[in-house]
This record gives sequence, structure tokens and C-alpha cells, in this order.
Amino acid sequence: MNIKFKKSYRFAVKSALYISVFSAVMLSALLYFTNAFSTGTVLLFFIILLVFSFFVLQYRVEHFIYRRVKKIYDDISLLEASPLRSKRITTDMATLTRELEKFARDKKMEIEALKIKEEYRREFLGNVSHELKTPLFTVQGYLLTLLDGAMNDKTLRKKYLQRAEKGVERLTYIVQDLDMITKLEVGDLNLHFTKFNILELIQSVFDLLEMKADKKGIMLMFDGKYLRPIMVYADQEKIQQVVTNLIVNSIKYGKENGTTEVSIEDLVNNKIIVRVKDNGEGIEKKNIPRLFERFYRVDKSGARTEGGSGLGLSIVKHIIEAHDEKIYVESTFKQGSEFSFTLEKSK
Ligand SMILES: Nc1ncnc2c1ncn2[C@@H]1O[C@H](COP(=O)(O)OP(=O)(O)O)[C@@H](O)[C@H]1O
Ligand SMILES: [Mg+2]
Repeated sequence: MNIKFKKSYRFAVKSALYISVFSAVMLSALLYFTNAFSTGTVLLFFIILLVFSFFVLQYRVEHFIYRRVKKIYDDISLLEASPLRSKRITTDMATLTRELEKFARDKKMEIEALKIKEEYRREFLGNVSHELKTPLFTVQGYLLTLLDGAMNDKTLRKKYLQRAEKGVERLTYIVQDLDMITKLEVGDLNLHFTKFNILELIQSVFDLLEMKADKKGIMLMFDGKYLRPIMVYADQEKIQQVVTNLIVNSIKYGKENGTTEVSIEDLVNNKIIVRVKDNGEGIEKKNIPRLFERFYRVDKSGARTEGGSGLGLSIVKHIIEAHDEKIYVESTFKQGSEFSFTLEKSK
């Protein structure tokens, strides 16, 4: 880069002027008071001139740099109420250079972060509209067909209305999931910690999902008998959402007439681990790391009858992490999967 600086002679001219005026005056004085040219006079002249020009130059240079530096500081402070301002203005060029470099680095990082956020936002919006489109078009398709005459056929009417209703239901689910994920991601999810029996919670999820499971002949069960309540300390509603999402998945991706088995085990440090295990389709190894991403689905084609929003597991992960707990997944392709998470036991 070739920057052209406006060349200024003012500084040099002024300094030279000061020194030459001073030395002319002094020389005249010396010549006037001492009768003639002598080594002593020259030496005296030399020393006085040296001291004088030293101070002139030092003072002027400092002043000059100080003014420039101050201007730079002021310019930066205009951009941002930066911490530079609060510090004493320094005339030390090295410090200034260091601080400017740091300033530039910070700015660069800030820009990078903003870029990533922007990218994320764009992708999110793209995904949202993509997710909404499919069910919306389904509903629209059935309604249009009905209006085009299908409504006069009694059996078709019912069938199409039911399908449209299914589409609306799916839209509702997606919007609910979106709502939840947005809350989770802005971090204004207030957890209401209480003490509750996790066995009871799981049983109530079983009851709620029984019909759904029955349709595929899937059995929802515990791995054994739990005689005593297992009390945990967590946000009951959110944990119910976690368990529901995991069990819904185990049904959706489970095989016909399979089983979903839930077990609870003690861990060290007053924790328990809840495992949800199915013997369904399983997940290929290469897909496992991405499961918890928003909108991620192994089968994107939509050919599958069971279409979700792809948000279920990312909601699960957010909730568990908000609790400062851990979530794990183990899966063997074509054999089954196990999702597990930890919880704090209540004393
Ligand atoms: N129990 C499971 N067995 C097999 N695959 C699963 C299981 N749970 C989740 N998956 C895979 O992980 C993906 C993401 O799950 P999720 O976030 O709940 O989205 P969704 O269920 O809406 O598709 C699913 O599309 C599915 O491919
Ligand atoms: Mg799901």
C-alpha cells in the first residue's frame, strides 16, 4: 500500500528558526563581551548551543507527538467509548502502537463473531421457512381439492379434512418447538427447580404416549420394578419435555412391535442417570455427532412417514445443559439406540 502523507515542513522550520535565532543572539553577545576569537569562547558557545537545542528539540518533539497521539486517541474514542480514554494520554509510541494493535484485534474478533451470528440467523430463518412450507402446502393442497369439488363427496370430504387437520397439527408442533428453542437460545429460560419423583414423571409420559406407541405395537416399560420413589431436584416441566422427546423418538424410530425400556441408575456424586433404550432402526456412526443440531434429521428426504421438526433433540440438549447435566447417546445401526441423561438426586 502506498499512502501519501502530506509533507509538512513546519515542525523543522520552526525548530531551526528557534535555534538559529538563539545562536545568532548568543554569538553577537559573545563577540560583543569577549574581545576576540578564542578557544574558550568557541567551547562556551558550543556547550550553550548544545544544551539549548537539546531542550528545544526535546520539548518540540514531545509536544508534536503528544498532539498527534491525542488526535488518534480522540478519533478512536469517537468510534467507541473505548477504555483508552480513561487512561492517561501517553506520549510513548510503543504503548500507543500496542494499544492500537489490541484495538484492531478486538474489532476484528467482534466482526468475526457478528458474522457468525449473522450466518446462524440466516440459516435459522431458511430452515424455519423450509420446515413450515411442507405442512403448509399439504394443508393448502387438501383445502383446494375440497373446494374444487371434493367436498361434495362425503367420504373424501372427511378424509381430506382429517389430513388437513394433521398438517395443521404438525404446524402447531413445529411452532411450539421453535418457540421453545428460541427461548432456550436467548437464554431466558427460567428453570423452576423443585423436588419430584422421576418415576412418577416417566410413568405419566408413558401414559400420555401409550396410544401412539400402541399404534406401532411398541411396549413402553421400565427395566424392572422400582419399589421406592426416586426423588430428583430439577425443573419438572422441562424434564418432562426431555423424557417426552426421547420416548417419542424411540417410538418414531422404533421397529414395529418393539420395546422402549427406561432405566434409572445411581451414579457417583449424588446423581442418577436415566436411560431410554429402544430396539429400533438405530443411527449410523457418522450421523451421531450431528444429532443434537437444530433441524438435523438423518433422513432428510421426507420420504419417511414420521416427520419431525428436527428440533426435538436440540431442545433436549439445551434443557439438560441448562441443568448443568450431561446427555449421552449410544447407538448401533439397525439394532437400536440408547439416549441417557443425568440428574441431581434430591436429599
Ligand atoms: N431413538 C432413535 N433411534 C433412531 N434415530 C433417532 C432416534 N432419536 C433420534 N433419532 C435421529 O435423530 C434425528 C433428530 O432427532 P430429533 O431432533 O428428535 O428430530 P425429529 O424427531 O424431529 O426428526 C431424527 O431425525 C432421527 O433420524
Ligand atoms: Mg424427535
